[in-house]
Amino acid sequence: MRQPPTILVVGGGGREHALVWALAGSPRRPVIISAPGNPGIADLARCVPVQADDIEGLVRLVQSERIDLTVVGPEKPLALGLADRLRALGHPVVGPSAAAAQIESSKQFAKELMTRAKIPTASAAIFEAAGPAIKYVKSRPMPVVIKADGLAQGKGVVIARSPQEAIRAIEQFMTAGVLGEAGHRILIEQFLVGDEITCMAVTDGLTIVPLLPAQDHKQLLDGGRGPNTGGMGAYAPVPFAPPALMARVEREVFQPLLAELNHMGIDYQGIIYAGLMLCRDGPYVLEFNCRLGDPEAQAVLPLLAGDVVDLCDAVAHGRLQTSDVRWRNESGVCIVLASEGYPDAPVTGRPVTGLAEANAIEGVQVFHAGTATVTGRVVTNGGRVFGVAAQAPTLQAALDRAYRAADLVRFEGKQFRRDIGARAIRSHTTLT
Ligand SMILES: Nc1ncnc2c1ncn2[C@@H]1O[C@H](COP(=O)(O)OP(=O)(O)OP(=O)(O)O)[C@@H](O)[C@H]1O
Ligand SMILES: [Mg+2]
Repeated sequence: MRQPPTILVVGGGGREHALVWALAGSPRRPVIISAPGNPGIADLARCVPVQADDIEGLVRLVQSERIDLTVVGPEKPLALGLADRLRALGHPVVGPSAAAAQIESSKQFAKELMTRAKIPTASAAIFEAAGPAIKYVKSRPMPVVIKADGLAQGKGVVIARSPQEAIRAIEQFMTAGVLGEAGHRILIEQFLVGDEITCMAVTDGLTIVPLLPAQDHKQLLDGGRGPNTGGMGAYAPVPFAPPALMARVEREVFQPLLAELNHMGIDYQGIIYAGLMLCRDGPYVLEFNCRLGDPEAQAVLPLLAGDVVDLCDAVAHGRLQTSDVRWRNESGVCIVLASEGYPDAPVTGRPVTGLAEANAIEGVQVFHAGTATVTGRVVTNGGRVFGVAAQAPTLQAALDRAYRAADLVRFEGKQFRRDIGARAIRSHTTLT
């Protein structure tokens, strides 16, 4: 790789801002380009107006800018084959092929793979027609989980607590087609009970290295109430996911997954995200994603102690075995600041103040997720607007820093959860 390397980060949300921030901290002092980027990313990288799902535009950009390494943030360009195109042209990429991205883009593909590989997961039945699906749920104990097979931006899962709710979801997905093609095939899954955590890993197809476990907070309101969202905050590490459990996850989930993918002739280079339910008898996989989680990335990436450019280079070039992934002995958190009306109808265009003050707090980074600049001023421009991240030697101290910063960032209608990490604080007093 040239020195300094030129790196392209595809995407424009909070996850990508955290990726750019982590890469920019490398002693290699990379030149970073981001497509499309955002106003926060623009402080650290050159943003170019090419959308994350414009595959031809991104391929042209990689060639014209002589990019040394491409890091792909969101799942859509991966499912559309961006990594395949770039690798075919000899360009190194952190991100799986379209075939490998099926672990996320098809829940049927993932479920059948897990069954073959004996990876613990909820039992499920798969349907391509509404009639048999409805007949099936009438015979099942409630609750059940209805999942659209394809990519649905977090809107493809319904936890049905009654047969009526289940039938409504089936008709919405399969008959009314509210999710389009993604909902034409569905999974009806056993409902699991336990604590939900996120385990992400990096792999070069041969070696797989788990990252620190994290916990997201899906519901909009404190106490886990309200509608499901893209995620309202996260923290890492997770006190009730100690090293012994992580070793079990590596043994029972990541290693068999990689072995089965290799057995299928699928070479996976990139990030694997495992959404896990910690049940009484152990970890079960709820789902796989083929990218970093958002907001989990904002909590986990700042805790990496080594050179993130080196790590990405090792993933893209099959050198992970010799890489040494080390962590700062700290806790990381991310508090999401969302717009009024999120998730259904976010109100945008609100001027933002207090960013400089918030960013001035030691150990704090305000990552932009949904912002724009209008006449030089930052305004809100999405449902999730910021991810306020903080690190500190203790989880409580990191939360204190993040909430101090979250209070300093102001825009009309701002909403956020005040109980991010409360479960961990409750369950673990010795983490401090
Ligand atoms: N079998 C299950 N039992 C209990 N809860 C479940 C089950 N499957 C999913 N869930 C709940 O539904 C949420 C969304 O499910 P899942 O993660 O499979 O979907 P997704 O839409 O792909 O999510 P994401 O947007 O995070 O990728 C999970 O975070 C979990 O809270
Ligand atoms: Mg998913």
